[in-house]
Amino acid sequence: MSVLVRPYQPQDRIGFGHVRSMVYRNGAPVSPDENLIPIDCMGFVAEIDGRIVGAFTGIDMWSTHHHRLVRTMGIASVGVLQEARSQGVGKALMAESMRSLKESNFVLASLYPFRGSFYRKFGYEYCGLRRRITCPAADFPSVEPTLPVRALKPHELDLVRPCYEAFAERYNGMNLRNEQQWVRQMGGETPFSLFTFGDPIEGYVAVRLQSTFWEDQPIREFVWTSSRAYATGLSFVKTLLVNKTSATWDEPGDGLFAARHFERGISVGIENPIMYRVIDVPSSLRGLRCEHGEGEFVLEVADTQLPENAGPWRVRFNSDGTTVEAVEASQTGIRLGIGAYTQAWMGEPGWEGVRFTDDLEVLAPAHLDAARKLMPFRRGLCLDYF
Ligand SMILES: CC(C)(COP(=O)(O)OP(=O)(O)OC[C@H]1O[C@@H](n2cnc3c(N)ncnc32)[C@H](O)[C@@H]1OP(=O)(O)O)[C@@H](O)C(=O)NCCC(=O)NCCS
Repeated sequence: MSVLVRPYQPQDRIGFGHVRSMVYRNGAPVSPDENLIPIDCMGFVAEIDGRIVGAFTGIDMWSTHHHRLVRTMGIASVGVLQEARSQGVGKALMAESMRSLKESNFVLASLYPFRGSFYRKFGYEYCGLRRRITCPAADFPSVEPTLPVRALKPHELDLVRPCYEAFAERYNGMNLRNEQQWVRQMGGETPFSLFTFGDPIEGYVAVRLQSTFWEDQPIREFVWTSSRAYATGLSFVKTLLVNKTSATWDEPGDGLFAARHFERGISVGIENPIMYRVIDVPSSLRGLRCEHGEGEFVLEVADTQLPENAGPWRVRFNSDGTTVEAVEASQTGIRLGIGAYTQAWMGEPGWEGVRFTDDLEVLAPAHLDAARKLMPFRRGLCLDYF
């Protein structure tokens, strides 16, 4: 039995819609006027004997990475029809779509896995674990708000973009959302309520206000660019909790709540983290700059799905940029698998995080030092859900 994986064509609509319906809509049919592939997305299908049995959607995104942006495909709604499962369709979808992504100039892919171990086989790894905070109302800290709070109208969404972008710039892996992505991430046709802190805006909270009493109040997005915006945001969230049990929201690994407000009874956990995978190793290095001097190293990356990523690559860098060229195997200084490379490149867990795994072989320690200089530890975060 052979599985053919290929990009979506308009004539695939019924088959693609059937997979969506059976895997993600409890069997409810897709309406004929629904746009299944939004303008910033592309579809992939897997077929057996001409019948579509699996599909996913890829979202065209730009991820922050060390003060630049990297073209990223966010992979969503991976699904295989129930009767076609456990026959290798899901694995073929993941493995064989990868070359198309590379040919379409994607440097990185990301996804929220149902299980990390399934996607790890294809080079995906967890990077930059977002912290989920749940704080009981009774333990919620009292913090002095110093900035004015304003409720935005849905059509004023654009006003928070500069604040989000300034926040995003501090982390690797944040999506620099386009128009459609802003609308989708902020609730689509039933938008979240937005409350901003400061004028100009220094922070904001996006929230689906819960009218039911004594339940958790989830906060969809909490973004801040100053300590006073963080304090005002916390004090605002506390006002939502008069008849709630708790509030839940996400923060990056360097978020202030765990560092400054943690108490016993408050939960700081890891829930539904995102995975990343570098698709194109030389392109992932080319746009990097090193503000603190120059250096070089030779890197070899084992990649089953895209063997051309192996190199070895001689990487030379300075404050103007980075050059990457293929060299002889005898010059290799660092050897690692694509998953470990992705974790090192993403900045968190970074080179230190993969240092003592079997996935990294250091043949010349100076090469590892140089790689760490070009790609230092940096917090990872993605606030988009897809
Ligand atoms: C996940 C899904 C896409 C897999 O598709 P599939 O065609 O059945 O998968 P394949 O037959 O290609 O591969 C199955 C592999 O997944 C592994 N697998 C199955 N369930 C797993 C689980 N819960 N955790 C980890 N691995 C799992 C199997 O062990 C097998 O790996 P192996 O061949 O190396 O032993 C399919 O089950 C599905 O549509 N699930 C419902 C929707 C969903 O969860 N999608 C994923 C969204 S991130």
